[in-house]
Amino acid sequence: MKDYRSFTGVISLLLTGIAGAYMFACVNSSSIPNGISPKTMADALHAVMESDRTVYTKNVVNRLTKDEKVITASEHWQDDKALPLPAQMFRMGAEMVSEKTSDFSYTLQSLWPINKQNMPKTDVEKEGLTFIVDNPGQNYYKEEKLGDSTYFTAIYPDTAVAPACIACHNAHKDSPRSDFKMREVMGGVVIRIPIK
Ligand code: HEC
Repeated sequence: MKDYRSFTGVISLLLTGIAGAYMFACVNSSSIPNGISPKTMADALHAVMESDRTVYTKNVVNRLTKDEKVITASEHWQDDKALPLPAQMFRMGAEMVSEKTSDFSYTLQSLWPINKQNMPKTDVEKEGLTFIVDNPGQNYYKEEKLGDSTYFTAIYPDTAVAPACIACHNAHKDSPRSDFKMREVMGGVVIRIPIK
């Protein structure tokens, strides 16, 4: 009798384990069979975007404008024969991507934008931008319905990684804030992936 009970105990434990693992696999968006999940895709895209953006700001803009003082960075980079701003580099890339694919889109936004066009517009954007400012180091993910389409929307903090970030924003006449500090969240990268 005792043996029988411990045998059923082991079986039910095993079944609970298998059911649990199966449920985890279904809920955990990073283990969808036959493909990568929207979250994995968004995180990977963001890793590339953030790295390129940091490299450009640190090794090109900050080094040449602040350390070496050989060139300036300017919104009117063509007329001024200057470097495009990091945000302009980012947008030029985003625009070129939008001509190539509709599998995803991305923008750089802020609750305190120099360019009012970069204000969050949808409810999810507003909620996500506020969340990443209030919870430094965390990302924000949510499904979003816009018109007839459903999107997986991921929002990542965009932080002051170089002195040039805060020097320029704090001094800019159109900036609603002049007290950004190093490593502070200045805005966010919004990546949108159509699903369903
Ligand atoms: C030389 C000036 C300059 C530097 C350096 C700079 N920015 Fe900006 N940034 C701007 C301007 C101007 C805009 C608005 C550009 C546009 O959308 O036309 C902008 C846009 C942004 C935006 C979108 C919201 C907004 O303000 O319009 C974020 C977020 C941002 N910058 C963060 C950063 C971070 C983080 C860094 C450093 C990695 C950085 N910026 C470096 C001038 C600068």
